[in-house]
Amino acid sequence: MRATSFIVLSAATIASAAPSYPTTPIATVVVETAHGAAYNDRTNRTIAVPIGPVYVNEDALAAVSTLYLLGPDTATCTPYKAQDGTVNGGLPFSVGHPSLLSTNSVVVGSLVCTLSTPA
Ligand SMILES: *[C@@H]1O[C@H](CO)[C@@H](O)[C@H](O)[C@H]1NC(C)=O
Repeated sequence: MRATSFIVLSAATIASAAPSYPTTPIATVVVETAHGAAYNDRTNRTIAVPIGPVYVNEDALAAVSTLYLLGPDTATCTPYKAQDGTVNGGLPFSVGHPSLLSTNSVVVGSLVCTLSTPA
């Protein structure tokens, strides 16, 4: 009698070991817009920015005074003037470290958020 069926078992073992992929992490960003010279003439808008890809939002980023990151703690985001994540548009911002782009409001072309490697 020939024994050839053992090969099937090893294929099933490989399939069950496939990793599960986490959902895309999201950075919560507050866009503060200054509408006039008065300090209290400001509005906030909260947007959800996927961490990793270049993020474009012509509507929410059309007038930006200050960018705040509410979370996660391990993320850092950088504003760019161009929509392809090029031409630096200001300092990077992270939780507790907002980035003041202008006392008026400027157009931000794109945001790029990255995660620092967990310590
Ligand atoms: C916008 O949100 C930031 C961060 O939460 C806060 O410091 C700032 O005072 C808010 N501005 C307005 C106009 O609500």
